[in-house]
Amino acid sequence: MSFSDRDFRNALGLFGTGVAIVTAEVDGTLLGTTVSSFNSVSLAPPLVLFSLARSALAYGQWIKAETFAVTVLREEQNELSNRFARAGSDKWAGLTPARSDTGTPYIAGGLVSFFCDTYAIHEGGDHDIVVGRVTSFRRDEGAPLLFFSGRYRRLQSDQPIETPADADLWLHGW
Ligand SMILES: Cc1cc2nc3c(=O)[nH]c(=O)nc-3n(C[C@H](O)[C@H](O)[C@H](O)COP(=O)(O)O)c2cc1C
Repeated sequence: MSFSDRDFRNALGLFGTGVAIVTAEVDGTLLGTTVSSFNSVSLAPPLVLFSLARSALAYGQWIKAETFAVTVLREEQNELSNRFARAGSDKWAGLTPARSDTGTPYIAGGLVSFFCDTYAIHEGGDHDIVVGRVTSFRRDEGAPLLFFSGRYRRLQSDQPIETPADADLWLHGW
């Protein structure tokens, strides 16, 4: 089977995700990139990942980041998502970053922010897979900004879909 890049992207877009902004400071420059590729990796040690396009203008700086933060956006933060997705722009212009206890810049007001030490960077085709070891996180209240089929979405309601009675054993762990 052969397929076009567009078809492949559209198919991948059927995996609904949240939206996060990854942030760091390298050589005094603030970095920030919107990602939907954020994911959990490991509980012990506590690892997370995102994948970063090697074509990103900030790629050369990103791979030097020793620490970074991942902020999962709330549904009201779609404009921040757009801002940190515009290639080549000064994404932080006019914004003051919040700072973790160890000084890593992050986006305030998200659903949760994870603070990470860079643990590994793996080659992944035209992306690099950046793995972070979570050193701390801070949670807030709110509803997530979702991304599905190329569009932002919001949760329709907080009513969960029927879930098996023994779900605690296997579902909630994820
Ligand atoms: C919803 C959404 C999800 C995105 N997910 C990713 C991603 O997982 N990895 C990535 O490299 N770029 C992703 N992007 C695109 C980057 O945000 C964008 O290319 C980057 O900010 C450009 O930065 P630059 O100025 O360094 O080139 C996403 C954009 C949007 C709007």
